Amino acid sequence: MSLMDWNEKLNVGVDQMNDQHKVILTYMNTLYDDYQANKPFPVLKSSLDSLKDYTIKHFKEEEEYMESIDYDGIASHKIIHEKLLKTLGEHYKNITSTQKFHDDFFHFLKFWLSSHIQGIDVKYGKLINCLLYTSPSPRD
Ligand code: FEO
Repeated sequence: MSLMDWNEKLNVGVDQMNDQHKVILTYMNTLYDDYQANKPFPVLKSSLDSLKDYTIKHFKEEEEYMESIDYDGIASHKIIHEKLLKTLGEHYKNITSTQKFHDDFFHFLKFWLSSHIQGIDVKYGKLINCLLYTSPSPRD
């Protein structure tokens, strides 16, 4: 069973970011499925590395996107990203040192995905979609 399936509540209204969030979701679900199936630690570690590396790439590109649209909430969003990466790093350190995954790590992943995307990421999507629909047309 998947950790979390894509749903419309996760739609931030920006295709590039939606696509990246779907990749993160796929990495999370693969890792969770393999964990549930008791796959060997090196298999899980490989997925964990992919998830961590892609998350770092996503945060960087999302921040560049927010800069490109002059999003005024970027400073606080960056701080939230830093905190998430810090927590992810702490889990990573614990997992790699003990060579064990725990349910609380997956609770963190699910919480991050659902609350951060739905509560924080959607805000820049609302801004850009508001700008797109309120910009004067060439005939105005
Ligand atoms: Fe899509 Fe702010 O992470």
